[in-house]
Amino acid sequence: MSQNRITALDGKRIVLGVTGSIAVYKAVDLASKLTQAGATVDVIMTDAAREFVTPLTFQAVTGRAVYTDMWAAPAGQGLPTHIAHVGLGEAADAIMIAPATADTLARLAQGRSDDLLSVTCLSARCPLVVAPAMDGGMYEHPATQANLEVLQSRGAYLIEPETGRFASGLTGRGRLPETPQLIGHLRLALGRDGELAGKHFLISAGATREALDPVRYVTNHSSGRQGHSIAQAALDRGARVTLVTMARDLATPVGAERVDVASARELLDAVTSRITASSPDALVMAAAVADYRPATAADQKIKKSDDPDAGMTIDLARNPDILMTVKALREEVGRPRVVVGFAAETNDLIKSAASKLERKGMDLIVANDVSAPDAGFRAETNRVILLDREGQQTEIDLTSKARIGEIVIDRVAALLDG
Ligand code: CTP
Repeated sequence: MSQNRITALDGKRIVLGVTGSIAVYKAVDLASKLTQAGATVDVIMTDAAREFVTPLTFQAVTGRAVYTDMWAAPAGQGLPTHIAHVGLGEAADAIMIAPATADTLARLAQGRSDDLLSVTCLSARCPLVVAPAMDGGMYEHPATQANLEVLQSRGAYLIEPETGRFASGLTGRGRLPETPQLIGHLRLALGRDGELAGKHFLISAGATREALDPVRYVTNHSSGRQGHSIAQAALDRGARVTLVTMARDLATPVGAERVDVASARELLDAVTSRITASSPDALVMAAAVADYRPATAADQKIKKSDDPDAGMTIDLARNPDILMTVKALREEVGRPRVVVGFAAETNDLIKSAASKLERKGMDLIVANDVSAPDAGFRAETNRVILLDREGQQTEIDLTSKARIGEIVIDRVAALLDG
C-alpha cells in the first residue's frame, strides 16, 4: 500500500478539470498526489490547457487516458455510461477544476455546454470545487467576482487563490495554492455532509514551552503530529475544528481554526475560554503538558556565574491541570459532551492510563508507550491502546498517526451518538 494513501480520498473518483493557465504545471503535481492518495483521477483538459502541457503528462501521472475532446472521448475506463460527459459526472465523487481560468468560471456561470469540461459540469450532480488562477486584475474584476458569486450560490466550493507574484512579474491575488492546500480543500468539500457535520471539536496538540528567560524554555519531545492528525480526521468527517497547537512547525490542516499557544497556562486559557464561549461537542487533549514550569521567568537573559564551579538550580512551580479544570467546568456547563485524553507512559501503561481516565473524568484515553522508537513522540507512526469508561481495551498495532487519528475520531463519533 502506498505510504501516501489518504483514507478520505482512497477509492474516490475525482474528475480533475484543467484549464488554460500557466498554473497548469501545479495541476500535474496535484493529479499525481491524488493518484498516490488512492483516488481514480480522470483529467479533462480544455484546448487552452493543452497549449501549456500535453495530455501525455497527465496520463503518465494518473495512469489513465486523458479526456480532451467532446466528440472523441476515450471509451470505457469504468464509467457508468458510454456517453463520456454524462458518465464522468455520474461516476465522480467530486469535480475539481484547478486551475480554473476567468473564462472557465464565466462559462460555468452561464451554464455553457460546448466543450467536454463545461458539459460534464452541467450534467454532474456531485460537488464542484473550483480553484481559480489568473494574472493581473482578472481575479478582482467585478465580472469574475460576479461569476464566482453565482457559482457559490449554486453550491460550488471556492478555493480562494493566494496573493503573491504572478508569472507576469506583477503581484496580486490570483495564484493557485500549492498541492497540500488544494488537497485539504478537496477533503473538506468531500466531507462537507459527513457524519460529524455540525459538530465542533476542540483539539490540543504539541509540547508546552515554559519560559525560563527570553531565550530559553523547558519543553518535551512531543511533535504535535498525533493531535494534528486527529484534527484532520475530524475535518474529513465534516466537523468544525479548533486546533489549539504548540507545534510551530506543523501546517494547519485546511479548514481548522488555529490558535497558537506556548505555555500550560496559555493552553488552559485557550481551552477553557473556548468551552465557555462556543460549547464544543468534544475535547481531545493530545497536548503534552508540562506539569511544572520555571517558578519565575527572568525578563533578561540569565548570565552564567563567574565561578566556573558553581552549578545552577531552577525552581519549578506546579502548572494547572487542564483536564481537571475541564472536569469541573463540564459539571457546570454540560460541555464538552465527550472528553478524550492521552497518557504518555514509559512503564505501567494500562494501570497509569486507567487511573488518569478515572481521575480526570475522561470518556476515552489513548495510552501511548513512548519508550519505543517507532511510537509516540516525534515518530511518524504510533502504537496505542484505547481505554474507555466501560473498561473496554482496544489495542492498535503500529500504524500511521493519520490512521490512529481516524480511529480516535471514529470512537468519539460513536460516543457522541450514544
Ligand atoms: N494534562 C492536562 N494538564 C496537565 C497535564 C496533563 O490536561 N497539567 C492532560 C494531557 O493533555 C493528557 C492527560 O492529561 O491528555 C494525561 O497527561 P500526562 O502528562 O500523561 O498525565 P499527568 O496527569 O501529568 O500524569 P503524570 O504524573 O504521569 O505526568
